[in-house]
Amino acid sequence: MAEEPKVRGGLCLNVDGEGCKKFTLRDIAREKAKTPIENGPKSVLVLGCSGGYGLASRIAVAFGGPKAETLGVSFERAPTDRKAGSPGWYNNEAFDESAKAEGLKAITISADAFADATRETVAQLAKDNGFKPFDLVVYSLASPMRTDPKDGVLYKSAIKPIGKPHVARTLDIMTCEMKEVSVEPASDEEIAATVKVMGGEDWILWIDYLKAQGLLAEGCKTVAYSYIGPKCTQDIYRSGTLGKAKENLEASAKAITETLKDLNGVGVVPVNKALVTRASAVIPAMPPYISCLFKVMKEAGLHEDCLDQIDRLFREFMYRADGGEMPVDEAGRIRIDDWEMRPEIQAAVDKLMETLAPENVEATTDIAGYRTDFLALHGFEG
Ligand SMILES: NC(=O)c1ccc[n+]([C@@H]2O[C@H](COP(=O)([O-])OP(=O)(O)OC[C@H]3O[C@@H](n4cnc5c(N)ncnc54)[C@H](O)[C@@H]3O)[C@@H](O)[C@H]2O)c1
Repeated sequence: MAEEPKVRGGLCLNVDGEGCKKFTLRDIAREKAKTPIENGPKSVLVLGCSGGYGLASRIAVAFGGPKAETLGVSFERAPTDRKAGSPGWYNNEAFDESAKAEGLKAITISADAFADATRETVAQLAKDNGFKPFDLVVYSLASPMRTDPKDGVLYKSAIKPIGKPHVARTLDIMTCEMKEVSVEPASDEEIAATVKVMGGEDWILWIDYLKAQGLLAEGCKTVAYSYIGPKCTQDIYRSGTLGKAKENLEASAKAITETLKDLNGVGVVPVNKALVTRASAVIPAMPPYISCLFKVMKEAGLHEDCLDQIDRLFREFMYRADGGEMPVDEAGRIRIDDWEMRPEIQAAVDKLMETLAPENVEATTDIAGYRTDFLALHGFEG
């Protein structure tokens, strides 16, 4: 199985399944080695459990102290005789095997989380397997498309600016080639479709359904992850189609808190740090920005990966040992992008970005760290 990674045009075309499992087991071991998170959730549903922030969330609640029972949903491809599975398939296998070894209840399904049938399957599985009502629901889906269960229409998201074209420099992380690309502004239809896919509509459907099924506990919390980011990704991200979707997601948190009022529950959006995941790797402007960001944050001793971010989210914001209030910003969001957005970090990143060129990128940025993380997503050593 182990072969060389085949990376073309920013995509890795093959997978080392054993490598994916190894990296997931490494993260589980890291989390187990920390002091336990106190006051954590005991029964957790993770939508988007197989990679990135969702997998980190599942690892933290299961192995970081709470020993939560977890039900995970993701959309992953099983291996066949002729083809390896998708990376998340192996991550899930590693999680399930570790949970079993620890005597933790864990059920993982591969299904379209946007479908009503999947909501029904999850409810049935939770009831049949004696899950306690969920006291945490993590919504961590990143998908290019969604079929609306009401009318069967397929919506496709677009990563585009709004109102004016966006000119950005892309960076090929294997060859260090830099290219200027211009992305045309989105049409109104594309904006609406992106909000349909990556906004909060489906998150609301999940919470409404689980509540109606009696599957949410008193004091239940639910999170969906967002991103804001720096000036240089503003046009393509926060002021673009994805930003509109994230604004909708953030507004949905308020509606969900209203729904959960009688359970004393809360819907909240943490704003996370930019990291290398399968979802972020396809956003133009991210590879050069992240390569510079990693360099600056590592030098400042502030670098975190998905697991560090989520561990801090649970430990210092949502499940504080002192039982204190959850710190939020003026818009009610949790800011675990606080270190990324520090003015001195952003100023240093801006400075690096100004002088960035193919001949100095290897020496001046942490493109090597980006490459390592990117290859690890597919099970390869960097
Ligand atoms: N990566 C970043 O830099 C970053 C930063 C801030 C916020 N976020 C947000 O975090 C969330 C998770 O992103 P990520 O980067 O961890 O992505 P990821 O690609 O690592 O994970 C996405 C997950 O969604 C699942 N999924 C996709 N379509 C599905 C479907 N139809 N049904 C069931 N599961 C499905 C995948 O199987 C996977 O488990 C997103 O909302 C993203 O915007 C990411």
